[in-house]
Amino acid sequence: MHTILVTGGAGFIGSHLTRLFVTKYPVYKVVNLDKLTYAGNLENLRDIAHYSNYHFVKGDITDLDLLRQLFKEHGFTAVIHCAAESHVDRSITDPLAFVRTNVLGTAALLQAARDSWGGELENKLFYHISTDEVYGSLGKEGLFTEKTAYDPRSPYSASKASSDHMVRAFYHTYGLPVKISNCSNNYGPFHFPEKLIPLCINNIINNKPLPIYGKGENVRDWIYVEDHVRAIDTIFHAGRVGETYNIGGHNEWTNIDLVKELCRQMDEKLSREKGTSAKLITYVKDRAGHDLRYAIDASKLKNELGWVPSLQFEEGISRTIDWYLANSEWLAHVTSGDYQNYYAKQYL
Ligand code: NAD
Ligand code: TYD
Repeated sequence: MHTILVTGGAGFIGSHLTRLFVTKYPVYKVVNLDKLTYAGNLENLRDIAHYSNYHFVKGDITDLDLLRQLFKEHGFTAVIHCAAESHVDRSITDPLAFVRTNVLGTAALLQAARDSWGGELENKLFYHISTDEVYGSLGKEGLFTEKTAYDPRSPYSASKASSDHMVRAFYHTYGLPVKISNCSNNYGPFHFPEKLIPLCINNIINNKPLPIYGKGENVRDWIYVEDHVRAIDTIFHAGRVGETYNIGGHNEWTNIDLVKELCRQMDEKLSREKGTSAKLITYVKDRAGHDLRYAIDASKLKNELGWVPSLQFEEGISRTIDWYLANSEWLAHVTSGDYQNYYAKQYL
């Protein structure tokens, strides 16, 4: 039995996580606290909004008074902390927004949990969702393990690394029961089209250029979002307190090969002549401080808790494209207004 505060539940990963917990565990109560920034969208949760074990609160994780009031009102036994500023390019433009939400917001949540739980820590859990980007950039060889030294290189990854350190500090200093997982790049439905995969799907649909930073040789390890939230479920229930678990898809792609695969599948699905979408590929100025390669060693999670990714990438990409093609209203909605301003500043 749990009453869980999920932060950032209206975002990409948070919405999949909220849906999984609300539907799989009817006896749990899930309160979703989300500021509804440009990345938060209640449409992502329309199918579960009416569930009696789900409740939404609009608010900011840096607001300690609000957090204290929510802990008092709902008596949370667990926090799953997903809320964050999450896009590297935006962190290059506005680093302080990332410090505010990712560092100060995480510290405020930890403080609120500590104040509320006091010495009664049995069956309590603060689960922090983090990223593999805290480990920095790999060369052509090697994998990130849980023991890899932190070496963040973008304002985004530095802010996430700081938040991870804060979580561990509350564990060691105050005995707060914590778990952390560091996951590789996610993809799937409800992914905001500022990130590579949904941006390219949207641009292929609209016959717009596909911007590839630098030479397209950077490598990411992609995981289907539902596999990620299944791993979170496993760690939440069976992982050891105080531990960190890496989550990854064993699925490395260079950006250019990945975009070519998207083009190939979308030509087929849109009945376009073979090679049509690939003509949209456009090499653009590289991202500042662009990390070369991320790749995860997820063997601790596999050996300790039996988790392995379930989907082959080609199948996951196919499902993702199908979802975007079937949800053109969602896509039109999130790419109106502010998105156009962002896109113009970032790419034109
Ligand atoms: P997202 O940007 O899609 O969603 C973030 C959510 O947090 C949004 O709903 C937004 O409204 C909310 N939010 C932002 N600032 C807030 C604040 N101050 N108070 C309350 N809510 C706020 O992000 P995502 O891709 O779903 O990532 C979720 C978490 O997973 C993040 O912590 C991210 O660092 C981590 N992560 C993401 C990936 C990935 O590939 N997307 C990979 C590994 C880890
Ligand atoms: P992104 O989806 O932003 O995730 P992250 O930077 O957190 O890994 O980018 C994935 C890769 O794609 C990364 O190497 C940067 C690259 N990229 C492009 O080449 N063009 C783009 O327009 C974007 C958004 C990303």
